[in-house]
Amino acid sequence: MKILVATEKPFAAAAVNGIKEIAQAGGHEVVLLEKYTSPVQLLKAVADADALVVRSDKVTREVVDAAKNLKIVVRAGAGYDNICLDACTERGIVVMNTPGQNSNAVAELAIAMMIFMSRNCFTPGTGSEVKGKKVGIQAFGNVGRLVAAKARALGMEVMAFDPFVEGSVMEDEGVTPAASLEEMYSSCDFISLHIPATPQTKESIGYDLLTRMPAGGCLVNTARKEVINEAELEKALTDRPDLKYVTDIAAVHQAELDEKFGKRVFATPKKMGAETAEANINAGLAAARQIVEYFATGCTRFQVNAK
Ligand code: 3PG
Repeated sequence: MKILVATEKPFAAAAVNGIKEIAQAGGHEVVLLEKYTSPVQLLKAVADADALVVRSDKVTREVVDAAKNLKIVVRAGAGYDNICLDACTERGIVVMNTPGQNSNAVAELAIAMMIFMSRNCFTPGTGSEVKGKKVGIQAFGNVGRLVAAKARALGMEVMAFDPFVEGSVMEDEGVTPAASLEEMYSSCDFISLHIPATPQTKESIGYDLLTRMPAGGCLVNTARKEVINEAELEKALTDRPDLKYVTDIAAVHQAELDEKFGKRVFATPKKMGAETAEANINAGLAAARQIVEYFATGCTRFQVNAK
């Protein structure tokens, strides 16, 4: 079978080598499409692919239609909002992610962002320490739990809100469960977002929640830009000159935010949460193994679309 690895943001070389080894050992061929600059290149490359590995690359209905032989798509990472699940399901194409494989890298970045914002974006002037501060984790999944553990190790107090996780699970990890988002935002110096972008979460973080934060509150977004209501974020930052926003996914109007709010906002130039060799290797190799196993045994563990 032909496995296309299409990564606009390429994997580390060690990950690519590992993917090739796993695929070849299973009797498959790997074709690479890296750093492509136009969706047309993906449409062309996918035409004869049996399997597709992507990162945040957009697998639109058009891509699925162009991929006449496609049987499986694996998103080497957690969020699969970049894939048209309906188009895949209609064709009987299996879609999987590789949950947990790049979580540590993202969690480390979230912690780094808290420290960066506490230290004036590494510019001169008196900053503050994260020790003794309180962080609220919005969604206690793979990344959220790691952020909680690292924050506790730094001497931070940790609260979490997740309607899908029992409070006792949080308490077992030294984390205080919040009864509501409102309660969590009202009492935390930092809020770290770890929710996926879904119809339910899109634009769900806005003025009401943000302005509940205590003086100097900072929102840390290593999740998705779509979960933020940008107009309301701007209004909150305007009305509350003490609030801060740091993100790994630049806002649509990031340049305006930068201009208006200076060091109170910061966005990485390109999403870098999962940009570590370790995360690339973990997620890339997991994707390759899942594809080889699917072709060998039909195993659909980690399938995320309807069967
Ligand atoms: C994910 O959902 O796994 C992260 O957002 C990482 O995305 P990336 O592979 O595009 O860096």
